[in-house]
Amino acid sequence: MSSLINFYNKIEINFIKGEGCYIWDDAGHKYLDMTAGVGVNNLGYKNREINIEIIQQIESYIHLSNLFTNQWANKLSDKLIEISKMDASFFCNSGAEANETAIKIAKLYAYEKEIKNPKIIIMNNAFHGRTIGALSATGNQKYKEKFGQLFEDFIFVNFNAIEEVRDALEQNNICAMMLEPIQGEAGVNISSTLYMKQLKQLCEQYQCLLILDEVQCGLGRTGYWFYHQKSEIIPDVLTLAKGLANGLPIGACLVNKKLNTLLTPGMHGSTFGGNPLVCRVAYKVLEIIERDQLIKINKLKGAYFIDKLQSKFTSVRGIKSIR
Ligand SMILES: Cc1ncc(COP(=O)(O)O)c(C=O)c1O
Repeated sequence: MSSLINFYNKIEINFIKGEGCYIWDDAGHKYLDMTAGVGVNNLGYKNREINIEIIQQIESYIHLSNLFTNQWANKLSDKLIEISKMDASFFCNSGAEANETAIKIAKLYAYEKEIKNPKIIIMNNAFHGRTIGALSATGNQKYKEKFGQLFEDFIFVNFNAIEEVRDALEQNNICAMMLEPIQGEAGVNISSTLYMKQLKQLCEQYQCLLILDEVQCGLGRTGYWFYHQKSEIIPDVLTLAKGLANGLPIGACLVNKKLNTLLTPGMHGSTFGGNPLVCRVAYKVLEIIERDQLIKINKLKGAYFIDKLQSKFTSVRGIKSIR
């Protein structure tokens, strides 16, 4: 019997090693990890190159106070900026923290613009994390129902329903909208290209921020560095986490130029966020994805699987859709 708080429905398997997309239990059974540790181990278990970076960095130091220059955080940020066309990054330790950062930035933006009673539009069934702010912004009641009064900064609309967004913009003082371009926890709901373009256009028209949570769908997993790039738009804020350091904890909140000028020392921070070890590993992750052309390969594999699954299962009773 474990003394851990029972927050997870744990399956009693004792995994002792991993390699690539396989893991082995203590009885010698080999398993194919089809979820990559839930979107984290994107470059596989026991990745040799990643391990070398970890070893080299711990020989120098693991942690460095955020009061000093951190060359690995700088390098990682520069790389993220290059691939996302954003302007600046903040590093934290998880997806929820990245989204907390985004929500704080939206509130600051509203403050600076003197927007009275500002609201943020969120999609029904969205999942943005478990901390109180991110939970308040989560559009799935299942995660919220027992936690009483949460923050009231959010207005919920249906995903992929542009008219509902338009109505919300007309009827409220909206400072931002936040969404996953592909809703993950909700069951892989994919935004249409038209919808994303329309959201971007509405954000420009109403001068509100477009915050995209690519914690789960970002970093090359869909055949684009970031799924919104399929729609040829650039958000105001972009959040990342999960696979960024292939298993070491990291979150990132990227902003565009107009927001970067609003953000000044003391407004936000994190003791461990962006430490040299995770940033060095994350930098390597991006290098490997690029060098090995994994995004192109993912696109081809995605098309292959969709084709095979559709041709085999489309007419099978009980299967509603293949995504
Ligand atoms: C889209 C999305 N946002 C945020 C989060 C929260 O990330 P974390 O568990 O690292 O806090 C998740 C986690 O599943 C997620 O899928």
